Amino acid sequence: MGVVALVPAAGRGERLGFGMPKALVPVGGVPLLVRAIRGLFESGRVRHVVVAAPPSDVDQVRTVTAPLAPAGGAVHVLAGGAERSDSVRLALEHALAEVPDVRVVLVHDAARAFTPPTVVRDVVDAVLAGHPAVIPVLPVADTVKRVDTKGVVVDTPDRSLLRVVQTPQGFDAATLRAAHESGLHATDDAGLVERLGVPVVTVTGHQDAMKVTTPFDLAVAEALLVGGTG
Ligand code: C5P
Repeated sequence: MGVVALVPAAGRGERLGFGMPKALVPVGGVPLLVRAIRGLFESGRVRHVVVAAPPSDVDQVRTVTAPLAPAGGAVHVLAGGAERSDSVRLALEHALAEVPDVRVVLVHDAARAFTPPTVVRDVVDAVLAGHPAVIPVLPVADTVKRVDTKGVVVDTPDRSLLRVVQTPQGFDAATLRAAHESGLHATDDAGLVERLGVPVVTVTGHQDAMKVTTPFDLAVAEALLVGGTG
């Protein structure tokens, strides 16, 4: 079926204040990256994962992730680039060169380490059903304001039409390759695909797929484990 997941994990993760790359920060004794990769494989849809690691930590990341691969699959680890988009592009190039028959590419954030495997399945299945780009989303609980550069409110978008975006984002392989070859810029991969004029459809995400960015998020993640949902 040819599903590959790319995991850009080459950031330094300074906002967590751990003095190590965020992907290697442990929650309940297990690094975020390991939890994220386990979730991808547990979906039953993914056999190959390509990790973009901090250049100085490639060997360590290889050691901790190699045992996670299922029979017939592999975890590939390479050095990431200067920006997240460079890391994704390098991982994509590696996947297309090294993994046979790639049809679907997921881009997943190691920081969303508790993403339930059902979300991964829903994204992959929607791409396989013919949607070139699929993202998991949740409704917005807060009212959101758009402000100008001085912080003065410009307007209040209709909350019922807003969504927060999670990962994995899923793409038909040719679509993601075209997006990365386009030279366009966006803060996420779906944003690149939107700019190509390709429709991006949504599936329902999950609150456990929260992004661990700050020490507060880390505390929430530890609490999720105690509560038994992780
Ligand atoms: O810093 P931010 O949270 O936006 O990073 C998002 C993801 O991109 C993180 O998982 C980080 O490790 C990854 N990243 C990367 N290569 C970089 C910078 C960030 O893979 N050069």
